[in-house]
Amino acid sequence: MNIRVFDSEQQAATACAARLAEAVRARPSLALGLPTGRTPLNVYRELVALSAREGLDWSAVRTFNLDEFVGLPATDGGSFRAYMERHLFRHVNLTPGNIHFLDGVAEDLAAECARYDTALADVGGLGLVLLGIGANGHLAFNEPAEGLVAACHRTRLSRETRLANLMLFGDDPGRVPMEALTLGMGALLQSGRAVLLAFGEGKAEAVRAMVEGPVTPRCPASFLQLHRDVEVWLDAAAARALQ
Ligand code: PGA
Repeated sequence: MNIRVFDSEQQAATACAARLAEAVRARPSLALGLPTGRTPLNVYRELVALSAREGLDWSAVRTFNLDEFVGLPATDGGSFRAYMERHLFRHVNLTPGNIHFLDGVAEDLAAECARYDTALADVGGLGLVLLGIGANGHLAFNEPAEGLVAACHRTRLSRETRLANLMLFGDDPGRVPMEALTLGMGALLQSGRAVLLAFGEGKAEAVRAMVEGPVTPRCPASFLQLHRDVEVWLDAAAARALQ
């Protein structure tokens, strides 16, 4: 794992936006895996600004978001789809048909997961995936467990993960969905390159377990130790527990 510690979250976000732009320029039809949550907010803001400033062309880029809540339509303000529209999609010239998302209200959720894995396989998998890490070590919504799942699947969210998403639901715990659909570990570990961002003290222990701990389903992010091309970009607080 290639670890970089930045002076501030903002510096990491600016560098990350530049790295993503470079990847899009190098491969205009890049298949890009995208996360939601607090961590990538500054990256998306920088990416939107850079795209306007430098005329970055997104028209051939294929995006695949990592996960979505079960039971929320794309039009629900708490959905990850709505988050992505607000923070990235509506601000750049992505082609609507190139935006791939899990549908949390699909009639048959198992078929929906299979459809998503097939759509991803059809483009040759993720060329680059941007990742966050849960304070509990989760990767996308692959939560700590006895065993992990390789394929896209439906999962029950931990209490900790539901609380971490309160901001999308007006801080009302009762409104946070209990379940989600998520890409499995296979799609993440088979990506061409992974860039994982973590900021703040609250991520320090998960970052330590990911980088220095054993590879264990108790910390799904630790499986990134097996990935051939991973960059871990941190601020000083998130790097605090590293040797
Ligand atoms: P956060 O979530 O960016 O909101 O901390 C990260 C994650 O759960 O992967």
